[in-house]
Amino acid sequence: MKLVLLGPPGAGKGTQAETLIDRLKIPAISTGMLLRNAISNKTELGLKAKSFIDSGDLVPDELVVGLLRERLLEEDCQNGFILDGFPRTQAQAEMLDKICAIDKVLSIELADEKILQRLSGRRVCNGCGASYHTIFKPSKVDMICDSCGGGLTIRDDDKPETIKRRLSVYHEQTEPIKAYYKAQGKLCEAYGQEDVKDTTKEVLKALGLE
Ligand code: AP5
Ligand code: MG
Repeated sequence: MKLVLLGPPGAGKGTQAETLIDRLKIPAISTGMLLRNAISNKTELGLKAKSFIDSGDLVPDELVVGLLRERLLEEDCQNGFILDGFPRTQAQAEMLDKICAIDKVLSIELADEKILQRLSGRRVCNGCGASYHTIFKPSKVDMICDSCGGGLTIRDDDKPETIKRRLSVYHEQTEPIKAYYKAQGKLCEAYGQEDVKDTTKEVLKALGLE
């Protein structure tokens, strides 16, 4: 299956992708994570992307599409993949259609009021990228990843003013592409619940995977 996960920042795309990887036996590709890796490795692309991410804006389409195209050529993507955070603009959606045929698009919905609370409590593993929350999904040992034992950190773009900017960018530039996929008959929706497991149930139901 070639699946796209849409949804506002903090909706739980990364968290639900972790479950879907096990269930569907395909990799999840987060363009946000690819970009953060490029920044920490100080690659040319990472240096170009940094100021956009820090301000909560989108990285220019041509940079992200190039990065994604390269990743999709890797062996593990040949039987399908989950795209987390791509496409994010109409132009990216059209470019993706030229690269491959997507099967389904799942939009995880969450009200703006909940997002600040979700993102201000998020802690992310430096090693494997797993996502935790201080209240909703705490790690067993404070600031240590349950899966790989790596240290947990706070993402640089999880500051309140950057979260607000990311949210308005989502409404302006990303949300409209739901109509594009609806017209193709590929869009389904799941509503973010207070509990991660309840959200997973909604996600599996929306995808017809219960
Ligand atoms: P990206 O990394 O994709 O960030 P995002 O879309 O803003 O989404 P997040 O990762 O913040 O949220 P999420 O939905 O994955 O939520 P999570 O599961 O962590 O992108 C970052 C930046 O990179 C962008 O701003 C942009 O600059 C750039 N970029 C990336 N892709 C791009 C593209 N295609 N084009 C251009 N630029 C691009 O959950 C959040 C928290 O809530 C966690 O702490 C989690 O534990 C908790 N939680 C999850 N589910 C629940 C639940 N049901 N109940 C309670 N808590 C929950
Ligand atoms: Mg994410």
